[in-house]
Parts: sequence; C-alpha cells; structure tokens
Amino acid sequence: MSKTKKAALIGCGMIAETHLTALLAAGADVIGVYDKNYERASSFAAAHNMKAYGAMEDVLANDIELVSVCTPSGTHAALAEVIMEHGKYVIVEKPMALTVDACRRIIEIEQKTGRFCAPISQLRFSPVYRQVKAAIDEGKFGRMILGLLSMKYYRAPSYYAGSWRGTRAMDGGGALMNQGIHGIDMMCGLLGYPTLVSGHTATLLHDIEVEDTAAASLVFPNGTLGVIDGSTAVTYAKPRRLELCGTTASLTIEEDAIVHAQGIDLPVSRISGYKSFDDPTAISTDLHEYQFRNILAAIADEEPLYYTSKEALRTVSVITAIYESSCSGNCISLLCPENMI
Ligand SMILES: NC(=O)c1ccc[n+]([C@@H]2O[C@H](COP(=O)([O-])OP(=O)(O)OC[C@H]3O[C@@H](n4cnc5c(N)ncnc54)[C@H](O)[C@@H]3O)[C@@H](O)[C@H]2O)c1
Repeated sequence: MSKTKKAALIGCGMIAETHLTALLAAGADVIGVYDKNYERASSFAAAHNMKAYGAMEDVLANDIELVSVCTPSGTHAALAEVIMEHGKYVIVEKPMALTVDACRRIIEIEQKTGRFCAPISQLRFSPVYRQVKAAIDEGKFGRMILGLLSMKYYRAPSYYAGSWRGTRAMDGGGALMNQGIHGIDMMCGLLGYPTLVSGHTATLLHDIEVEDTAAASLVFPNGTLGVIDGSTAVTYAKPRRLELCGTTASLTIEEDAIVHAQGIDLPVSRISGYKSFDDPTAISTDLHEYQFRNILAAIADEEPLYYTSKEALRTVSVITAIYESSCSGNCISLLCPENMI
C-alpha cells in the first residue's frame, strides 16, 4: 500500500467534488484547496474541513506532493507546468491542454523536472474498457473492420451562459474537445491512433464560439475504418455508443456497459444510472478513484503510470486534426505515435 500523499485541489467547481471524493477514497490526504474565487475556495474548504489558500503561491510553497487541477481547460497547461517546476506531481482534468504544442511542452517539463503530469481519462480505467482491450489484444475480434463512435448529447443553454464553456480560449473546442474527448480517447485506446482523419464541424444550435456538432471519418493503422459523430445539440440525447465490428466478433459499449456482443464471450448488461449525455453533473466517482489509485502507486514507484501525458497528446492531436480538416477541407495525416513526441 502506497504511503499517503499530501494533496491539494485547484479549482472548486463542478468536478472538484468528484476529485475530492475519489482522492480520499484512493488514499490521498487532501489538505487544502485554491480557487481564484476565494469565496468559493473557502466555502468548499469549510464544507470539507480543510484549508483554503489565498494564492497559488501558497500551494506551491507548501510541502504538498500532488496537486489536482480542476480549472477551466484553457488554464491546464500553464498550471501543470508551474506545479511540476515546483517539484510536485500533477493530476490535470481533460483535456490536458488545448493544443498539441502545449501538450509537448508539458512532456518536456516532465522530462526536465522528473515529475509527471497525469491527465484524467477515467474511461480507460473502467472494467469494461479493460475487458474489451484484453479481448482485442488476444485477437478475439479477428481482423477489426469498423469502429463507430456516436455521442449525441444535449447541453442546455444555461450550461454555456456566462461561462468559460463554449469559448475558444478556455474550452478550445466544443462537442469534441470538451464532451467527446472521453469517447475518442477510449476508441483510440482500443483501436490505436488513426493515421488519417477528415471531418466537419458546425455550430448548429448553441450561441457559442466553438462547434456544437461534428462528424469525422478515420483510418486506423491496420486499415480499420472509423466514424465519429458528436454533438451537444441533440434534444433527444442518447448514451455514448461505441460499436466495434471485427471478422469474428462484434460488440457494442453504451456508456459503461457492454450492451451487445456476438461471437465473443463477454458479459452483457444494462447501462448504470449515470447519464452524462444529458446531465453534465452525472459523473461516477469510481473511475476517477481507480485512476487515482494508479497515480498514487506510480508516485510510490509501485506501478507504471497507465495513462500518461503522451497518450493525452495523441488524443488531443486527433481532435485538433478533425478541426484542421474541417477548416481546410483536407484529409489530415497524423504522425505515427512514436514520432509525435
Ligand atoms: N473527467 C470528467 O468527466 C469531467 C467532467 C466535468 C468537467 N471536467 C473538466 O474539469 C475542468 C473543470 O470543469 P468544471 O465543470 O468543474 O468547471 P467549473 O467552471 O465548474 O469550475 C472551475 C473552477 O475553477 C476556478 N478557476 C478558474 N480559473 C482558475 C485559475 N487560474 N486558478 C484557480 N482557479 C481557477 C473557477 O473559479 C471555478 O471555481 C474542465 O477542464 C473540464 O473539462 C471533466
């Protein structure tokens, strides 16, 4: 069992409660919080019997070993960098950064400081992901033919109103960079990172600067073809759905459950009560907890870090390639993963 790590949270908004619950359950000792809105930090701290810091410098000067960043996406890269420069490990919410260059800088600072930045990708820690990944690696699908990812979500206008969400500077993108990144990251974890991407994005419903709807097609390294749709504008939203079709097996994952399987012996079940496709607050803490357990074990040198900044860079590169394709009208080639960093 890893020694308890002293930790702090930065940002006390919607996802902070999930981080706190999951960090505590994973065995961290969360001693304080900082939010640029001090009132928010102090009421969060009072509710959870911890310290509210008045400035980021107070967190950096403390002997805290691990800092969890739960701030708007456009602030992640700069915060992760400064925290590692001060000798601490970082957990950063998705997306790790908004551009491939910013992701690369984070990786350089990891190499310079010997600390790591652990980006959140909780679906990679779900039991279903692990089962399906093992089945693919064991060749149980035969040749993989198609991967079809569908993310027809709804977000109410109030979700965006007066917020950093939906802005280019702080969200970096919409239906894909914010909501769809989970599904895209899971798809790439299972099928590999695509070598060719083309896509279209549009803002069809919401009054926001970034896309609320996107469609893309992808070619994976071994020739598997993929299709992605993503939206936050579909009134009758549906569970996230990933369909994998191979020559010897087919399977469909909806949210956190395998709902259909043919030619493969994996347990089929119904999806759980979490419905983040139409309610952004419906997030389980279990998957964050599984990821945090691995992060704490990696700090203690007991396990490798299973989801790294390099994986996060690759996922961000797929999303930014879809944006680039939509802007230019071209099909975008992506470097093979080994050459990306
Ligand atoms: N993994 C998931 O399932 C999941 C779910 C929701 C949100 N997220 C991610 O979590 C992050 C936060 O989202 P949220 O919905 O909690 O946002 P939020 O707006 O509810 O909260 C953000 C908080 O950060 C504070 N803040 C802003 N800039 C800051 C800075 N520079 N320093 C310190 N505090 C600062 C704000 O005052 C606010 O309290 C986003 O990157 C989002 O993509 C992940």
